[in-house]
Amino acid sequence: MPFPQERPRRLRRTPILRNLVRETSLATSDLIWPLFVVPGSNVKTPIASLAGQYHLSADKLVDEVKTARDLGVMAVIIFGLPEAKDEVGSQAYAPNGVVQQALEKLKAEAPGVVLMTDVCLCEYTSHGHCGLLKGEEVDNDATLDLLARQAVSHARAGADVVAPSDMMDGRVARIREALDEDGFSHVAIMSYAAKYASAFYGPFREAAQSAPAFGDRRGYQMDPANAREALREVRLDVEEGADIVMVKPAMAYMDVIRRVRDRVDLPLAAYNVSGEYAMIKAAAERGWIDEKAIVLELLTGIKRAGADLILTYFAPAVARWLREAQA
Ligand code: PBG
Repeated sequence: MPFPQERPRRLRRTPILRNLVRETSLATSDLIWPLFVVPGSNVKTPIASLAGQYHLSADKLVDEVKTARDLGVMAVIIFGLPEAKDEVGSQAYAPNGVVQQALEKLKAEAPGVVLMTDVCLCEYTSHGHCGLLKGEEVDNDATLDLLARQAVSHARAGADVVAPSDMMDGRVARIREALDEDGFSHVAIMSYAAKYASAFYGPFREAAQSAPAFGDRRGYQMDPANAREALREVRLDVEEGADIVMVKPAMAYMDVIRRVRDRVDLPLAAYNVSGEYAMIKAAAERGWIDEKAIVLELLTGIKRAGADLILTYFAPAVARWLREAQA
C-alpha cells in the first residue's frame, strides 16, 4: 500500500496523536545523578569544568540530594575527593573516608534515595591511575582486593549499589564474593562493563582531580574502535555476577548500547559523561543551541538506543523540564 494510500504524516497531525504513537519515553525515574563529595562542612564550590555542578561537603550534599528527591530523582552516584592521596589509595577504603561518611549521613537524612557509589582508586591514588602500580603498569590482580575492600566499606556505610569503574579484569566476581562474605548479598553491582578510554572524561577528571600523573588509561579502558569487544566485556561481567551493566560514554557509543541491549537481559545503564554535558553547556551559554531541547533529544536518543537507566549531570534539570511538560 504505497503513497497516496500510505501517509505517515496522518499520525503526526496533533500533539495527542503524536503522544499516542510515541515509541520511547524518558522518565525522571530512569535517571541517576552523579555528585562529588569533598571533606569539610558548608562547602559548595562550583566546578569550573561542569557548569552548574558543585563540590559539596556531606551536609550540603544532603541538601542537594533532598532537593533532587523532591523533584523525583531517586538515585544518585557519589564520587569522592579525599583529604589526602597516596600510592595505594588508602582513603578509598578507609571506614571514615569522605564517601563513607557522606553515605552514613545520606542514609540517615535523605531516606528513600538509592545510593550508588563509584568504586575505583583513581581519585585516591597520588599517581591518578585506577589501580596499584607495578613499575609504570597497573597491576590487575593486586588491585582486586583493594576494590573489594572499597566496595564492602561503601556497603557498610549504606550504599545500595556499588559501581566499579576501574576496568580491572575479574573485579565483579571479587567484589560479589567480598560483599556476600560480609553479609551484603542484598547490595547490587552496577558494572561499568563497556567503558572506553575516552577524551569525553576530560571535564570529570578536572572535577574529580583524577587525571593520571603519567601515561593514560588505554592499558585498561577499552579502545573506542571496538564494539565486539564490548559484548565480550559485558558477557564476562554478567557471568561474574553484575546486576546492571553499563556502557560509557553514551553519545558516541549508541551502537554499542543497542548491541548490548539486543544481547543481554539485565538492566542496561548508559553514562552521559562529563564531556557530553560540558559541550552542551558551553554551546547553550553562547546561545548556539537550545539546552532543554537538545538534552531531551539526546537522552531520548540514548533510551531509544536501548538504555534503561541514564547517569547524567542533567538529572535535576530534566526532572524539572519533565514536570513542567506535565503541568
Ligand atoms: C573513575 C571514573 C571516571 C568517570 C567515572 N568514573 C573517569 C575516568 O575513568 O577517567 C568519568 C565520568 C565522566 O566523565 O562524567 N574511574
